[in-house]
Amino acid sequence: MPRPTPTVVRRLEKAARQAAKASYSPYSKFRVGAAILTGSGKVYTGTNVENASYGLCNCAERTAIFTAVAAGERTVRAVAVYTPTRAATSPCGACRQVINEFGPEALVISVCDGKNRIETTLDRLLPAAFGPRNLKG
Ligand code: THU
Repeated sequence: MPRPTPTVVRRLEKAARQAAKASYSPYSKFRVGAAILTGSGKVYTGTNVENASYGLCNCAERTAIFTAVAAGERTVRAVAVYTPTRAATSPCGACRQVINEFGPEALVISVCDGKNRIETTLDRLLPAAFGPRNLKG
């Protein structure tokens, strides 16, 4: 699948920043937003949703992916994540594994409140990943 154009990447970054505004993060007070580009060309957004039972907190990236999958999407081409930090941060390990399920070669873009940004790919963030193919024996 072709790499998303710079215009699409900018659109994803903007959507991720906007998505963070809806964050439900009363415990960490860390408002994260994510936007994903799917195989159909649509953009889905998500934010982190926390819970009084802390272990049930859901990251912004997974919220976006689960929303897309619930709408019938099965391929993730790119993920943009915004964190309210001075330096850009990459998705957590659990999110990397979930991205791998639908986009093992997805472009992963991280933006923040500073100028710093990270642009990499999922296979670099999660080398030798365990995925759907491994279940086929
Ligand atoms: N969080 C995300 O939503 N995405 C990340 O990539 C890192 C962490 C959330 C989980 C939790 O609600 C808060 O940020 C603090 O860890």
